[in-house]
Amino acid sequence: MTSTRFQMIVERLIADARAAVTELQITEDELHAAAEFLDSLGRAGEFADLLDIFLAVTSVVATLGTPDSTTPNLAGPYYKAGAPMRESGRLYDGELAAGDVPLTVRGRVVNGETGEPIAGAVLDIWQADGQGIYDVEGYHLRGRIPVDEFGWYEYRTVLPEGYQIPAKGPTTTLLRLLGQSNWRPAHIHLRVHVGDTTPLQTQFFIGGANYLDSDPVGAVYDDLVIEHRPSADGVGRVMAFDIRLPAIDQSMARRLGDGPKASVPS
Ligand code: BEZ
Ligand code: FE
Repeated sequence: MTSTRFQMIVERLIADARAAVTELQITEDELHAAAEFLDSLGRAGEFADLLDIFLAVTSVVATLGTPDSTTPNLAGPYYKAGAPMRESGRLYDGELAAGDVPLTVRGRVVNGETGEPIAGAVLDIWQADGQGIYDVEGYHLRGRIPVDEFGWYEYRTVLPEGYQIPAKGPTTTLLRLLGQSNWRPAHIHLRVHVGDTTPLQTQFFIGGANYLDSDPVGAVYDDLVIEHRPSADGVGRVMAFDIRLPAIDQSMARRLGDGPKASVPS
């Protein structure tokens, strides 16, 4: 980020915050109470969660995607660059855990404007397991899936479960005070890479999951809720998710980071 852009953003945020203080007659005691809360967020390491919950969807909708594309969506804190290429289509390491429901996801990646398949696309997928837990050490339930020459893809995974963000600290207290749940509905994140660009980042939701109507992050859009049906062998589930890319813009690659990191001018 350039120092000019940094200055522009911070000055605007301060101006908007001053307008709120004036309009709502926020007292100095209330400001100090807010500061105490923000300090507790910092100590708990939850500041990023707060920004993800309240602002990240607004940011991706404002900066990525077009009216013709699949709705973009936030990465959240669990993206990890460098996921293995899963040529076999199997997204998990080892065997399925007891109780895991096998899930096959398939669909087509097309140019949202023309409907033409995007043969060179690679999906970069990450998701929680059947207990709502992300593998943050390794790459279980993470991987890159290539799209074939006609734009088709298919991968095998497990039905994810929803999870609480974060289960413990001040963010959950704040959500409770606002009358909001801290449970996210079950979802699968993905980025679509084409060459050196990343024209789309989104997540889709498991149709019928709990908390679809109360996602604290506000990330549930109709085109991203995908129903599932029984697989042919009767053991697992199948979902069909077609992905419409916005016109490929070289600048997108630079806009998406490799994971949580701050970049303010030093
Ligand atoms: C997630 O989708 O993984 C997520 C989003 C916001 C806060 C925490 C997690
Ligand atoms: Fe997530």
